[in-house]
This record gives sequence, structure tokens and C-alpha cells, in this order.
Amino acid sequence: MMSSRSIKGLTLLLAVSAAGAVQPDSCEGGCKGARAQVLLQTGSVGRYRFSARGSGEEFKDVQRVASMSLTDQSALVEDLVTDVLATGQPLTGTQKEIIERLNETFVTETLPELQKLHDSDQELLNVHAAAVAHCDVDLETNSQRVSTLNSDQNSTESAHTECLAQEASLQSSEKLKHEELTAYLKSLQPPSSMMPEQRAPTPAMDDFVAQNLEFFKSLNSSYVSLKERISTVQAEVEAKTAGCAEAELVFDEKFCLWKTEVENAKSNYLNCRTATLTLYNETLKTAHSNAESRRADLAAVLKVQCFLKMLLDGTTQEKLKECTDAEHTSSALDIAEPQLPELNQRVLDGLGAPGSRVQCTATALSVQQHYVVHREQGCAGPGVYGTSIQTWGSGEDSAYGAGYVDDDLEGCEAGCSAHSDCAGFVLRDSDKRCSFWYSGPLSPLAHSGYHCYEKISM
Ligand SMILES: *[C@@H]1O[C@H](CO)[C@@H](O)[C@H](O)[C@H]1NC(C)=O
Ligand SMILES: *[C@@H]1O[C@H](CO)[C@@H](O)[C@H](O)[C@H]1NC(C)=O
Ligand SMILES: *[C@@H]1O[C@H](CO)[C@@H](O)[C@H](O)[C@H]1NC(C)=O
Ligand SMILES: *[C@@H]1O[C@H](CO)[C@@H](O)[C@H](O)[C@H]1NC(C)=O
Repeated sequence: MMSSRSIKGLTLLLAVSAAGAVQPDSCEGGCKGARAQVLLQTGSVGRYRFSARGSGEEFKDVQRVASMSLTDQSALVEDLVTDVLATGQPLTGTQKEIIERLNETFVTETLPELQKLHDSDQELLNVHAAAVAHCDVDLETNSQRVSTLNSDQNSTESAHTECLAQEASLQSSEKLKHEELTAYLKSLQPPSSMMPEQRAPTPAMDDFVAQNLEFFKSLNSSYVSLKERISTVQAEVEAKTAGCAEAELVFDEKFCLWKTEVENAKSNYLNCRTATLTLYNETLKTAHSNAESRRADLAAVLKVQCFLKMLLDGTTQEKLKECTDAEHTSSALDIAEPQLPELNQRVLDGLGAPGSRVQCTATALSVQQHYVVHREQGCAGPGVYGTSIQTWGSGEDSAYGAGYVDDDLEGCEAGCSAHSDCAGFVLRDSDKRCSFWYSGPLSPLAHSGYHCYEKISM
């Protein structure tokens, strides 16, 4: 005899699947698909809570079957198959109809849904892989900026070195001029300083005066000119020394800009890799675990389908064995692991190693910038465009007057703060734009409808 437990169980299972006694937590309209999905989708049916419909003992049974795992439900169908085999009792017309409708749900909803969930996992994984790859795109962009800054600091260093060489050459020229004067003074042979005994307008006295006059005239002219040459070269040395000190400051600044950018590019890249790889790893783990349970679900559904077909076509031991032993090898639910870029050590190394040749105390990033607003004033006075910035010192287009619409002062402050050559910007009332950048020194002048935001570095 067919066990009453099995019959009741299968009847309930089919009723639950096709006739609508259970509902997932939320389901509006087309609930049939959602119900079948809940029952068969993931093998984790038991995790779902079903809203209470119906009442009494019958409802308890429905609930019991509905909260069974797909494995238990499959076992239940297997029990029924076993009973049918043992008794040879045929299925009723209604049961056949229910089996067909259940199969239709598998084919049109459950299996496509499995595939859809798989595809969306795969797509998500690809998105995270693309995010990992994008770290390298950013690194390339930053490395180009670093390279510009590197040649900047390199050429300012060359300028400073060359300046020091010129200073040294001027100093040695100054020393030479001193030595020349000393040598000249040492080589002087004054005419006889003995005044003739006879203090009278004698030819000897005439001679004495003429000779001394000649000597001292020549001495004065040479002495004065040699001293002038010394002071000329001294002034040149002083100017050069001041120039070199300035060149050193410029170099220090450029060096520190480069160093900061190298450090930023490195840490941005490494942080980007860690963050995106962590997400990728987590997604991959979840995707694999989802794929594994989906493959199990697929196998279970295919097996139940096989049983259902067998129940319709006529149940035999051979067919039962076929259904039970069937291996379902499908790669459709496999997760394809995208190729991830390796850590790009080549570009990282290419950023350079600035070292600590210069003490860079205040890095460019830690400098806080504030703005004071000169209302109804242009930064460079009305009609004066001499100090507007069309291209940033870094070489990028400044999009002068083109961006940051709708009084986007925050955007403009950030834009100006990001460029050391920006001394301020103008907000124009007529079009609410503030991307009119100016380099220093600013000379705010009254201009109606214009407001100058002057950068103050703290
Ligand atoms: C820096 O300058 C030196 C010579 O002044 C040159 O050999 C080197 O290639 C330059 N480096 C860069 C990155 O421009
Ligand atoms: C010495 O020479 C300079 C330049 O030629 C002249 O200005 C100055 O008057 C001379 N001194 C005397 C005492 O003549
Ligand atoms: C991600 O997984 C790979 C491979 O298992 C591992 O080498 C790497 O350290 C992981 N990265 C992060 C950030 O978790
Ligand atoms: C289920 O549907 C599929 C596809 O339409 C069909 O090949 C199969 O025979 C059906 N099985 C049953 C038991 O109806």
C-alpha cells in the first residue's frame, strides 16, 4: 500500500507549489512564479517565512511541507515514486495536471531565474574586477602628473646648480680683482719723494711737481677704476647670491610638490588595490558559494523534473535508477573569474624615490587654504585680464569661466586650492559662475556684479 504520509506530503507539495497556499514574505500580483521560486530556487526554502493564509490543521501541514528543504521535498517525491513502483497505482487526472503545471513553472520561471541570478552575480564580479583594474588607470594618470612634476623639479634643480656655478665664478672673479688691485698697489714705484733742497722755482722743483702730479694722476685713475671694477663684481655676486637663494626656494617647493605627489600616487594606488580587492574577494567568495548552491538546486530541480516525467510516463525501476544516477554537468552556472591586473610594480617604481634631500615639512596636501571675499570687486579690476589663468601651471586646461555653475563656491575653492598658481577666483553674478581663476598678486578693484575670492594659505 502507498504510505499515507507520502501521498499526503506530495499532494501538499504540489498544492503548495501550484495552487497558492503559501506566499513568500512579500508578493504582489504574479505570485505563482514567486511561490515556485521560493520552494525550488535555492534549496534554502526553510529560511523564508510564509505569511499565514488559511487556518487549522490543514494549514499546519502546508506550512510543514513548505518549510521543508528542497532535498526533503525531493525525498518526498522519491517516496511517492517508490510507493507507485510498489503498488502500480496510477496518478489521477488532477495530479497529472498539477505535475505538468509544476514542470512548466520549473521551465519558464525557476530555471531561468537561477540563470538570471547567476548572471547578475557574474556581472557584479566583473564590475568589481573592473574597479580593481581602474586603480591602474588612476595610477597611470597620476604617474604622468608625477613625471611632469619630476621634470619640473629636475629643471629647477639644474637652474639652481647652474646658478651656484655662476655665483662661484663671480666670487672668484671678485677675488681676482682684489688681487689685481693689491698687485698694482704693490708694484707702484713712486717718483723720488725727496723734494729739492732748494725751495724755489727751480727746474728741479718743476720736475719734482710734474713727476709727482703725473704719478698721482695715473695712480688715482687706475686705483679708482680698479676699485670700481671690484664693486661692480661685488654687486653682481650679491645679486647672484640672492637669485640662487630664490632658485633654491623654488627648487625646494617643486621638489616637495613632486615628493608629495609621489607619496599620494603610491598610497592612493595601494589603498585603491586593497579596497577594491577586498570587495572583489568577498564578492568572489559569495559568488562561488551561490554558484555551488545554485548547481545543487539545478541538480535537484532536474532530478525532480525527471521524477515528474517518470510519474507521467510510467514509473519503472530502470527509469528511477536513471533519474537517480543522472549526472548533470553544466558549466552555465560556473563563475568565470576575471583576470585581475597584478600590482603594477613597474609604474610604482617609475614614480621615483624622492628621498629626503629637502625637508618638506608642510606638504602640499596638509596646507589648509581659506578664502576672503572682496564683494563687488574683480580680482584684477574691471577690464583687466592680464593675470587670468587659462592653463594651470601643471599644464591642464583651467576651463576658465566654463565650469562650476550655480554659485558652486565649494567646487571653485577646491579647484583653486588644488593649484598653487591660483591666487583667487571671481564669482560673476550674471551667470553664477566662479571659475575665473587669477594668479597673484591680486589687485581687487570695484566692479559691480563681480566678487573676488582671495586665497589665504594658513
Ligand atoms: C633630470 O636631469 C638630469 C640632468 O640634469 C637628466 O639626466 C635626467 O634624465 C633628468 N630626469 C628627468 C626625470 O627629467
Ligand atoms: C680721481 O679720479 C676720479 C675719476 O677719474 C675723479 O672723479 C676724481 O676727482 C679724481 N680725484 C682727484 C683727487 O683728482
Ligand atoms: C584577495 O584574495 C587573494 C587571493 O586569495 C589574496 O592574495 C589577496 O591578499 C586578497 N586581497 C585582499 C585585499 O583581501
Ligand atoms: C517539462 O518541460 C520540458 C520543457 O518544456 C519538457 O521537455 C519535459 O518533457 C517536461 N516534463 C514533464 C514532466 O512534463
